[in-house]
Amino acid sequence: MTTRRKLVVGNWKMHGSHAANAELLQGILAGGPVNADLAVCPPFPYLSEVAVTLANSAVAWGAQDVSAFEQGAYTGEVSAAMLREFGCRYAIVGHSERRAYHGETDQLVADKAKAALSRGVTPIVCVGETLAQREAGETEAVVKRQLSAVIHTLAHCIGEVVVAYEPVWAIGTGRTASPEQAQAVHALLRAQLAAATPHADAMRLLYGGSVKPDNAATLFAQPDIDGGLIGGAALKAADFLAIARAA
Ligand code: PGA
Repeated sequence: MTTRRKLVVGNWKMHGSHAANAELLQGILAGGPVNADLAVCPPFPYLSEVAVTLANSAVAWGAQDVSAFEQGAYTGEVSAAMLREFGCRYAIVGHSERRAYHGETDQLVADKAKAALSRGVTPIVCVGETLAQREAGETEAVVKRQLSAVIHTLAHCIGEVVVAYEPVWAIGTGRTASPEQAQAVHALLRAQLAAATPHADAMRLLYGGSVKPDNAATLFAQPDIDGGLIGGAALKAADFLAIARAA
């Protein structure tokens, strides 16, 4: 079995300011090296200054979204090529908040992942079921359908993405999936990937949804959980570092 280096990504969502970002990044950088890959995903206007702050550090950065289009008359969109010009490493695609509030479909999410990859930006593809779907026993069908669109669209390149399993009911609610619940879905997703690519064993599957310093270690100890996509706890340097150290 391949040993996968853990990846811990901070999804800052629509939080931050010049001052708050500088303080947060200083805190993270002062924490010194950790035995995991780290990345932060600030809101778009701050990306280039975050890139400058993180230059020559071990912390990478990414965007929270990316356009499915190359360029053109798409008001408000940001292309993968633009992100790449600044050295962007990752782009979160298909976060449940974008699926829910911006009507993103499975196919649009897949097209965004393809646009990112085509420019050398690694998509972090989010999948996850709502509480109603879990209670209706649809978890497996939902996450498989969401991932399947990306597999079909990316074909042999699917091995290059990062997948994040984020049960919607666990996001920002303080209600985490148990390590067993998360592992069960991660194993399913890895099996689905293995049917599509010989590289599934090397792919990183992150868990997201109320990951905190006190639950990170047990989640990350699961065989198919290769790190986390962290929301609320990524806004405090001490918490983000504690989670990174748990990896
Ligand atoms: P949370 O968010 O850690 O605040 O639950 C995770 C996410 O939405 O990526």
